[in-house]
Amino acid sequence: MAARVIVLLRLTRFALYRARVCLFLALLCLLTLDGITRIDTYEQYVIDDTDIDFRELEYFDEHPGTFRASVSVQRNFSSLVHRQSLPSCPTYPRGLQGILDTDDIFRDLSWAEIRSENRDISHGGRYAPQHCAPRYKVAIIIPLRGRDSQLRTLLAHMHPIWKRQNFEYKVFVISQIEDATLYNKAKVLNAGVSAVRKDGHYDCYVFQDVDILLEDDRCLYWCHHANPRHLAMHLDKFRYKPLVYDEVCPPRSLVERTSSENLRRYINSYFHKPKRHKVQTFGGVVMMNSAQFDNVNGLSNIYWGWGGEDDDLSVRVKSKGYAIENPYGERCSFRMIPHKHEKGNAKNVARHALLSYASARMANDGYFNTRFRYVSYEEHHLYTNITVDVGRPSREMVDFISQSLDKKTLCTWKMPWMKQEKMRKSPPKD
Ligand code: BGC
Repeated sequence: MAARVIVLLRLTRFALYRARVCLFLALLCLLTLDGITRIDTYEQYVIDDTDIDFRELEYFDEHPGTFRASVSVQRNFSSLVHRQSLPSCPTYPRGLQGILDTDDIFRDLSWAEIRSENRDISHGGRYAPQHCAPRYKVAIIIPLRGRDSQLRTLLAHMHPIWKRQNFEYKVFVISQIEDATLYNKAKVLNAGVSAVRKDGHYDCYVFQDVDILLEDDRCLYWCHHANPRHLAMHLDKFRYKPLVYDEVCPPRSLVERTSSENLRRYINSYFHKPKRHKVQTFGGVVMMNSAQFDNVNGLSNIYWGWGGEDDDLSVRVKSKGYAIENPYGERCSFRMIPHKHEKGNAKNVARHALLSYASARMANDGYFNTRFRYVSYEEHHLYTNITVDVGRPSREMVDFISQSLDKKTLCTWKMPWMKQEKMRKSPPKD
């Protein structure tokens, strides 16, 4: 009898143990299935992330595109942005169109029309996908002086593309004040990064020219951390070929050479033809993360007028050992809105001489040495506009960059302000 009871007890314990294991396994299955269904559903509706209701927004007509959001909408927006409970957005966005129909790429819409096509863009030109947690938060920085119609064309074309690419972003237009001085795009960009940093953390910065339009939405504006990226490497203006040219002036140092060094160089160059370096342009649409930007000390402050600042950035990036990447190849092809050089953006004919000092100047001339003044901050519906005063070039700089010199004179020109800069170890004198 006792033996039977023992066997019965053992059998019951065994059965209970089995039941517990089964229960555990069943629970595990349920959880997994739930996870899979959730991912499935999310994959279906992540394609359309444009159904945010922004009707609560108040629009004000006194300034085109100006907008003020009520406090509740701002709260709603930030709750949309910080959606940690959502699954991450897919590793490749759904719903892209590939090569775009660019017949009417240069559309001239009014701000109201662009706004009505982009109701899901929030306060100050911000966007975040609604149904998944974006992988990247990108600051799109557009340097500007005048050119309102180009800005309209750019935003009408690019907002829908950026939205389809499923990342979080904010558009910062950094405008140099309109006065008699020359445009300095690089300084405006340095000021822009400073403003963006006040706004919050961004995984990377895209420097986007206002006149460059993407032709294929598979060229992703997503951040990448290994190297800076040149998205606009294939541009219609250059027949879609990367632009690389022979340097005009060989690299120079800020320290003047002694006459014996000069003699030695001269004799050497007689026997060995000095190797010409190539300059790879690095403008149009460029992407860097914060560490890379700081590492190269941002952009040089001394290029006034058109040209040179992008070549300088390419020298900086390479001299710090980075490669310039273009991961999507010809998918990243762009069209330029045709235009002429404005008066305030005349060609800097001496840019190649400034470029020859690019790596020598890098430590003392850049983001950490830039001087500018904030003039205004306005949040429009499709972008945030920050106006800055970046100062004006010195008289000797204006004289230098506007005179046409022959190559030898240009490349051997003694630049007193550069020597001064070296001696004083202080920001360059504008
Ligand atoms: C200028 C660059 C420009 C390139 C292509 C060069 O001569 O220095 O700033 O991007 O031409 O237009």
